[in-house]
Amino acid sequence: MNTAANSERLEGDPVSLWVATGGTTDYPALRGDVEVDVAVIGAGIAGLTAALTLKRAGRSVAVLEAARVGTGVTGHTTGKVTSLQRLVYTQLRESHGTDTARAYGQANEAALRHIADVVAVEGIDCDFRRVANYTYAESDDALALVHTEAELAAELGLPATFTTDVPLPFEVKGAVKFDEQAQLHAVKYLQGLSRAVHGDGSYVFEQARAQGIEEGSPCIVGLENGSVRARDVIVATNVPFGDNGRFDERCHAHRSYLVAGPVDTAPLDATFISVDEPMRSILTVGIDGVSYMLVGGEGHPAAESGNSAQRYRRLASFARDRLGVEEVAYRWSTQDGIPVDGLPYVGPMTPESQHVYVVTGLRKWGLTNGTAAALILADTITGRENPWAAMFNSNRAATAEAVKSTAGRETEATEAADVGDSSGVRTPAELAPGQGTVIEAAGQSTAVYKDAEGALHAVSAVCTHLGCIVEFNSADTTWDCPCHGSRFSTDGSVIQGPAVDALEAKPAP
Ligand SMILES: Cc1cc2nc3c(=O)[nH]c(=O)nc-3n(C[C@H](O)[C@H](O)[C@H](O)COP(=O)(O)OP(=O)(O)OC[C@H]3O[C@@H](n4cnc5c(N)ncnc54)[C@H](O)[C@@H]3O)c2cc1C
Ligand code: FES
Repeated sequence: MNTAANSERLEGDPVSLWVATGGTTDYPALRGDVEVDVAVIGAGIAGLTAALTLKRAGRSVAVLEAARVGTGVTGHTTGKVTSLQRLVYTQLRESHGTDTARAYGQANEAALRHIADVVAVEGIDCDFRRVANYTYAESDDALALVHTEAELAAELGLPATFTTDVPLPFEVKGAVKFDEQAQLHAVKYLQGLSRAVHGDGSYVFEQARAQGIEEGSPCIVGLENGSVRARDVIVATNVPFGDNGRFDERCHAHRSYLVAGPVDTAPLDATFISVDEPMRSILTVGIDGVSYMLVGGEGHPAAESGNSAQRYRRLASFARDRLGVEEVAYRWSTQDGIPVDGLPYVGPMTPESQHVYVVTGLRKWGLTNGTAAALILADTITGRENPWAAMFNSNRAATAEAVKSTAGRETEATEAADVGDSSGVRTPAELAPGQGTVIEAAGQSTAVYKDAEGALHAVSAVCTHLGCIVEFNSADTTWDCPCHGSRFSTDGSVIQGPAVDALEAKPAP
């Protein structure tokens, strides 16, 4: 059982800054059948980038989005568009060798250039800004790591230097600096991509959850009220859909948290991430005349939930003490797939698949990795060579050495889990507004939530993926599954997979 026990109110609206300020889209749901060259499932950065690239190459596409454009992981990102990803080159050299580290850097730099180009050509108003990106060190140990990363990245041909001149309002010992990186408003960027995709025989459908894929000639993607027939299908749902669990063992969901609050200073021309633990990721952005400071961190495997409220509080303290954020305005969390050997999976869904492709394991750096993945798949479908397809091969066998040297070195290190936020509530009557608990009655586990008005809402507590019992996350007001990271709203609807089906509704107790 896991319930809320956070008497002290958490600061900020429980919504991502990008979703809160990005506006919304209103594409139709799919009713009936359509036929296109390529069906793309998922309107995140990977799906929409692939769709637009294929449309530009003369293919008709249909994007199917279960919710609204940009409301998935991409709408909950930090917003850094960069090939400097903490200490990724040192890690990749160790796990895969220098050539792979070089190729990874090239793929991410190419993705960065692609995004800049799309923003310019399509005229997307998404606060895209070229900024420097820093990986900074506060301790001597971290400083040594930063020196190594800077030297290696420069040798690999990346825009890297070591510097002690780091524009942060607190003292650090030094940093790797990559010039000419970028940041953007992820929701506005995805909306711009979707506008460019929709029309001229191509479509974006919203509230259009794919329910099944039949591979054939053509492939058929089934939905509740229609279907898409297509030569090729791209599954860009972040957590793969229709993969029969093929990626469960090779990728695990890793969650992180963000807070954002207004500051008096103008946005910095830089973004930052720490080497020292606890890892902190920092970005500033101006929206509607207000400067916001974003701080991310507190990452952990989704299976180790701990106390989310405490995680938000630690980020808020850091934002206040180090960066001058008086009050948190927004707080949110999301998850991304971490591949066991440190590289994304992009390519055919199975070794036998001819026309169904997958993108997953973007390792919390999917704005560039997801873009690179989309370009790889667009090349594959249009019969062009792609220099990075083999590196991200979705059907590779991970070598034991690569898995070993990747293990425990998440993109963002796993931080100590707190004790869960259980208050020992055992009956619905004991719940305070905003709390939830799992009760056992008549041999069934039921997840019961009491809303702000005191009304009770009940759903089955049995996760629709593989049957684990969900737990209440009081800070995000979600039911989270400790097994493979599925997340559900209090009405039972799926927020994040691998679960596809909602938690079954139950009568309120
Ligand atoms: C806290 C955090 C911060 C991050 N910060 C950064 C950063 O600063 N820079 C960076 O490069 N990366 C960052 N990342 C990673 C990056 O945000 C992700 O890798 C990327 O956004 C994933 O994109 P996607 O297209 O795979 O998934 P999504 O954006 O989640 O898109 C998938 C879409 O598929 C839809 N969908 C799911 N199932 C179905 C179905 N059956 N039918 C139809 N649609 C379906 C979902 O609704 C969703 O909209 C961060 C990750 C986290 C967790
Ligand atoms: S996510 Fe797999 S059982 Fe819940």
